[in-house]
Amino acid sequence: MRLIFLGPPGAGKGTQAKLLTERYGIPQLSTGDMLRAAVAQATEVGKRAKAVMDAGQLVSDEIVNEIVSDRIDQSDCAKGFILDGYPRTVPQAIALGKMLEGKGLKLDAVIELKVDEAALVKRMENRVAETIAAGGTVRSDDNPEAFKRRLTEYREKTAPLSEHYAGTGQLRTVDGMADVNTVTAEIEKILA
Ligand code: AP5
Repeated sequence: MRLIFLGPPGAGKGTQAKLLTERYGIPQLSTGDMLRAAVAQATEVGKRAKAVMDAGQLVSDEIVNEIVSDRIDQSDCAKGFILDGYPRTVPQAIALGKMLEGKGLKLDAVIELKVDEAALVKRMENRVAETIAAGGTVRSDDNPEAFKRRLTEYREKTAPLSEHYAGTGQLRTVDGMADVNTVTAEIEKILA
C-alpha cells in the first residue's frame, strides 16, 4: 500500500499516518520529521533547511525529492509507505511520479484531509500546550507568525496538488473536521 496524505498544517496528516502505520505495518514517511532530524543532527541538509523551516517556508524541492527517494529505497518500505507532507508542490508531485516509475512502483491513493482553516490555529495551540505539558520541545515553527506563513505556503504551493491528483484520478477526500476515530474510519473505507 502506497499512500499520500494531503492537507494544510494541522489537518491531521501525521495523526492519521501514525494510526495507519500500525494498522498496515508500513512506515510513515514524514518529510517534516526527516528534516527536523537533519536539523537536530546539524547535517548539511539540516543546516540548509533550518532557517527556511523556522520561517514557515518550504525547503527546496531538490532537497526533499532526494531524501524521499533515498528513504523509499530502505527495506522497511518494501511493503509500502505513507507519505506525510510530501509532495507539497506540483514539481515535487511530478518528481515523485518519475521517481516511482523509475523504481517500478505505483501509488494506491492520495487522501486529502479537508479542514476549516479557522480551526487550524487552535489545533496548533493545543499541540503546543500538550507538548509543554508532556515536558517536550515545542516545534520552532509552531508559533503564530510561522504558522500563518505555513498556511500561506500551503494555499499558494500545495493546494494546487488537489487538482493535479484529481486529474490523475487518484484523489480521495475525507472530512478532516470530524473526530480522529471517524476520520480514520473514513480513510479505512477508502482503502478497503
Ligand atoms: P510538516 O512537519 O510536514 O508540518 P505540516 O504539514 O505543517 O503539518 P503538521 O505536522 O503541523 O500537521 P499535520 O497535518 O501532520 O497535523 P497533526 O496530525 O500533527 O512540515 C514542517 C516544515 O518542514 C514545513 O513548513 C517545511 O518547511 C518543511 N517541509 C516538510 N515537508 C516538505 C516538503 N515536502 N517540501 C518542502 N518543505 C517541506 O495534527 C495537528 C494537531 O491537531 C495535533 O495536536 C493533533 O492531535 C490534532 N488533531 C489531529 N487530528 C484531529 C482531529 N480530527 N480533530 C481534532 N484534533 C486533531
